[in-house]
Amino acid sequence: MEHLINARASNIEISGIRKFFNMVAETEGIISLTIGQPDFPTPEHVKAAGIKAIHDDFTTYTHNAGMIDLRKAAAEYYLKKYDVDYDPDSEVIITAGASEAIDITFRTILDWDTEVILPGPVYPGYEPIIRLCGANPVYADTTTNNFKMTADIINSYITNKTRCIVLPYPSNPTGISLSEKELYEISELLRDKDIFVLADEIYSELVYERPHTSIAKFLKEKTIVINGLSKSHSMTGWRIGMLFATNNIAKHILKVHQYNITCATSISQKAALEALTVGFDDALPMRAEYKKRRDYVYNRLTKMGFDVVKPEGAFYFFVKIPVSGMKSFDFALSLAHEAKVAVVPGSAFSHLGEGYFRLSFAYSMEILEEGLNRIENYLISK
Ligand SMILES: Cc1ncc(COP(=O)(O)O)c(C=O)c1O
Repeated sequence: MEHLINARASNIEISGIRKFFNMVAETEGIISLTIGQPDFPTPEHVKAAGIKAIHDDFTTYTHNAGMIDLRKAAAEYYLKKYDVDYDPDSEVIITAGASEAIDITFRTILDWDTEVILPGPVYPGYEPIIRLCGANPVYADTTTNNFKMTADIINSYITNKTRCIVLPYPSNPTGISLSEKELYEISELLRDKDIFVLADEIYSELVYERPHTSIAKFLKEKTIVINGLSKSHSMTGWRIGMLFATNNIAKHILKVHQYNITCATSISQKAALEALTVGFDDALPMRAEYKKRRDYVYNRLTKMGFDVVKPEGAFYFFVKIPVSGMKSFDFALSLAHEAKVAVVPGSAFSHLGEGYFRLSFAYSMEILEEGLNRIENYLISK
């Protein structure tokens, strides 16, 4: 029956990250610097709220958009932290992680043969959904601009098919973010154009240079903001995301969400309410720790002679492979086998990631130090 599988689904490739894992997972004694999730536990008070929800039998469906208290807390969080005002009744949807928010946004706004501009290299979670919608990803080359998407770069990729621009900042895999001025320039470029912005701000709390700015501050009427608690509150397994958009967009996304999952998990919603209120600033101590690790890794990598842009947010370095012409997959495989350190080949983040590797610093200092020692010895042996 495989020949009857929907062609767009059957053409989706498993992610480069997964392919690579499958090849190196068995390597004995390997240190992994690959992971894309925080290494801290979920805060105790947030866990307690989830446990209480079970004991209180809060185990039924909620409003499709999420509990109103939670939507109010989410709206307040965005207003207080990022100065963007959303109506909790009609402009906020609680989703099953940012992943579901990405899915229902694309399925609501994309038509067949439309185009989505993405800054390459980029998180691999967008392209398969875009393709499932029958639309096409267009990768804007940011490699010559320190991985920063600018209004000028976007402008050179816009066609009459462009339906959406993805602004995923701070970025996975590059750690780059955009300043208020850069976001304002993009908003001015798009002001009179019929183009949506999908702003994936899942790393907004993990910023090391300046406070995060949302493009929704300047372009709310065209922007769908996606965020969640996976990274800010170390809650990847709870599956809670947040989507913000003006009512005339959100009401259509809500239909897709409703027929997709009905509502986010009630128990996780209670934990999320605790996280966004009592745990409003739970990310701050984690941010301080990530910053220390970032500075340490940056010093080590630059001393080894690597060409690397210092990340301004998230917890990744996107590092240029020092051997010219070597494929990122081959380099990562060689590093895994000879140095026993796993990193993610840059090609997992679109063709524009070729020639790089991603190193995560969501690991303890001890693990980072050992991993970097091994990379250093590997380079010396070459
Ligand atoms: C840029 C980006 N967006 C979205 C996600 C998915 O987040 P969630 O766990 O909330 O589905 C990730 C996860 O790594 C990510 O890096």
